[in-house]
Amino acid sequence: MRRVVCPGSFDPVTNGHLDVVGRAARLFDEVVVAVGVNKSKQRLFSPEERLDMLRRACSDWANVRVEGFTGLLTDFCRAHDVHAIVKGLRAVSDFDYELQMAQMNASLTDVETVFMPTSPEWSFLASSLVKEVATFGGDVSGLVPDFVHDLLVARLGGHRDGES
Ligand code: PNS
Repeated sequence: MRRVVCPGSFDPVTNGHLDVVGRAARLFDEVVVAVGVNKSKQRLFSPEERLDMLRRACSDWANVRVEGFTGLLTDFCRAHDVHAIVKGLRAVSDFDYELQMAQMNASLTDVETVFMPTSPEWSFLASSLVKEVATFGGDVSGLVPDFVHDLLVARLGGHRDGES
């Protein structure tokens, strides 16, 4: 059984994340999407909301399941018998940090990191940018699933145009 993990904060999940998850699901027997639920970090969406979003967004893939995690990703990998982490790489700028994490994770436990190039259509996409653009009223439909777009608009509706 080739089981891999796709980890992230997913605040919120974007079409770029889903592109990587879907392609991993075609390559491997099982994909575990690990949603970082560090409660001490300020996020737009709560851990429960992000888990719900991922479960809904991944529901069409039979070999993808979604779990929350706190603490070290390597502990999650050990607990779920996962030996490979799949990470999307958008550009060279992602590489330095991702390489550092991959090597640190490999030093902590028996886990490989597999880098998957993001599809060109999503290479500019980041959750942080989606939130920024949406905050100022920009159109981010088409960059996230429709239901995530609705949640974003509802969440940001009270403080659009950068109002706090
Ligand atoms: O979507 P993000 O914010 O880039 O996801 C980063 C995430 C959650 C995958 C990463 O920060 C992580 O693995 N956090 C868990 C804590 C951990 O294991 N830290 C050591 C990394 S070498």
